Amino acid sequence: MVAMQLYVVFILLSSLCQRLQGIELEELPDKDMHTGLLLQLLKRIRLERDYDTIVIYGREPCVFHALLPQLELPTVLLTQGSSWEDWSFSSESLLLICTSDAEQERNTRTLLKLQPARRLVYLELEKQPKEVCQAYFEREQVNVAMVDSVGNLYSCRCFEQENYVQLAVNLSSSYPKESTALMSLNSNIDVASESNSNYAFIYVEQFSNMRGSLIRSEPDLLGPRAFLYHNPSTGKYEIKGFVANLITMFAEHVNATVKLRDDIGLGQSIHYKNIVQRVKLNMLDIAATLSSTLDFKNYDHLSYPYIHSSFCFMIPVPARLDYKEIYTIIVHPLVTGVLIVLFFIFSLLLIYSQDLNWRRFSLINLLLNDRCIRGLLGHAFPMPAQPSRYLKGICMLICFASIMTTTMYESYLQSYFTHPPYEPMLRSFEDILNSRHRIAVEREEAKHWLLKNLSLTTSNAHRVHIVDNWQELIRLRESFNISFIYPTTELRWFSFNEQQKYFSEPVFYYSEDVCMKRFLLLSLPLRRHLPYRQLFEKHILTMQEFGFAKFWMDNSFNDMVRLKLTSLKDYSHPLMPEDQVYIKDLTRIFVFYLAAHLFACICFAIECCWAKIFGLK
Ligand SMILES: *[C@@H]1O[C@H](CO)[C@@H](O)[C@H](O)[C@H]1NC(C)=O
Ligand SMILES: *[C@@H]1O[C@H](CO)[C@@H](O)[C@H](O)[C@H]1NC(C)=O
Repeated sequence: MVAMQLYVVFILLSSLCQRLQGIELEELPDKDMHTGLLLQLLKRIRLERDYDTIVIYGREPCVFHALLPQLELPTVLLTQGSSWEDWSFSSESLLLICTSDAEQERNTRTLLKLQPARRLVYLELEKQPKEVCQAYFEREQVNVAMVDSVGNLYSCRCFEQENYVQLAVNLSSSYPKESTALMSLNSNIDVASESNSNYAFIYVEQFSNMRGSLIRSEPDLLGPRAFLYHNPSTGKYEIKGFVANLITMFAEHVNATVKLRDDIGLGQSIHYKNIVQRVKLNMLDIAATLSSTLDFKNYDHLSYPYIHSSFCFMIPVPARLDYKEIYTIIVHPLVTGVLIVLFFIFSLLLIYSQDLNWRRFSLINLLLNDRCIRGLLGHAFPMPAQPSRYLKGICMLICFASIMTTTMYESYLQSYFTHPPYEPMLRSFEDILNSRHRIAVEREEAKHWLLKNLSLTTSNAHRVHIVDNWQELIRLRESFNISFIYPTTELRWFSFNEQQKYFSEPVFYYSEDVCMKRFLLLSLPLRRHLPYRQLFEKHILTMQEFGFAKFWMDNSFNDMVRLKLTSLKDYSHPLMPEDQVYIKDLTRIFVFYLAAHLFACICFAIECCWAKIFGLK
């Protein structure tokens, strides 16, 4: 069945390349001038821009079939006028169409792929080129040329009064040198330069001058990427932002006009999902928003990726530690353990080095060696009358260790009392669930992202604050409300961080550790059959290459401030730094001091008892 409907033959011959250019008119048989003319025309088309595949629409008899042996290129024959299957045609295909209505391509994906391809239609005698161009423009296929049996060559032109031009096919007339022709083809040739040289291109970049045509767009009014403002000099609403600029710049470049909704106004915003929906319904050409490639199955509705980002959390900067706590945190158990081990080693060394034997060794001497304690705390201690050189060496070691430890603790204590350290940062989802903060998230997103990453149980579900109204979430986030943790893309964080620089102290930090997605490719949603998709994607790359995208990003926050869309209000709540240390701040130290005293008293009491019981014997 499929075989009947679609008779596809691939003629794959070896030595594909370069043969065509070698064919000269002289080599062709004189009797078949018509074939010769067409071959010459195909050669000229190939000089403009190379093609690597031939697709022929229409059934035999057809002039183009006769040319195939000479063309020696991979060929697809579509006799039924449609490819049915989703073919991956290359954009460098040349479509030869036997009659003006032979191409009835219905496969939307194939149509999309064939948009940049060039078409050569063999025009029947009674057909008007105007109608054919019109029919193709309605299908948004713009690279169309026609040749009729008399040898007239027409090429469609979208944005001109007459929608086609007639070109002279003087095959012996000079076209530009091959190299210049091939080089200049991909650049934007406008009509002016075309008429200056006496060489007229058959296929031109139609959209390089759109003569004021409309590009329908809509901003999502989210933060720095696309926002609306009222331009007093034109009296109209305009869009700005690092995504919106891309579109306005493109419109300027191709002499088009950006058209926003008529009823658009400040202060209203549309969920970006609705904008994407409008793009899918062909109501918008290019939307001024960003969509992740993860939300789409393919690139039919997306442009080439414009920017990449991560999607993580912005978390309130942890509070500073209480003064009371400082003493506790500097007595780190590991360091204390090391110090105690050092103390025992020094005690042993001291005991041994006095007489170079173990006669003085006893448990009490090891555990409570008063010389060693005093030495390590940096105090004076009595030296034996004639110390050996070993003993002197050990004392030196003790002095050195005491200097190290006492200065270390002193500097810790002093600097922490001046600038108390922060509480630990949240480094994982577990940390967040165990912290006092709650994650604020929109219901849709909670379903989409959060549940995948978070092991929510009934006991910790209250750690997530679900917001039904997304504008409410945005308002919370923009007012730097520190009760919550917010999911944010790095792009948005960039301007929050910029804003924070005007605060007296930072309020949030962007966590690179707790992420919902570490790498997202973001593209602009495009209408599926946008005919200038290629041109727009090239524009994206150019803007990236020349650093405009980065420049817009860097300036986006300043633009928002300049257009009074955000304020420089300080949302931080800095605590006045205390310039005194109160007794209450030292309670831990006193507790420690008391405990040590108590311990000493107990030791003393035991010693007394010991003396009473054993000393009286
Ligand atoms: C074709 O062009 C050449 C050189 O440009 C010219 O000499 C010749 O007369 C032209 N032929 C026709 C049929 O216009
Ligand atoms: C741009 O478009 C306008 C029509 O809106 C036209 O008058 C003008 O000539 C065009 N500019 C260029 C450079 O072609």
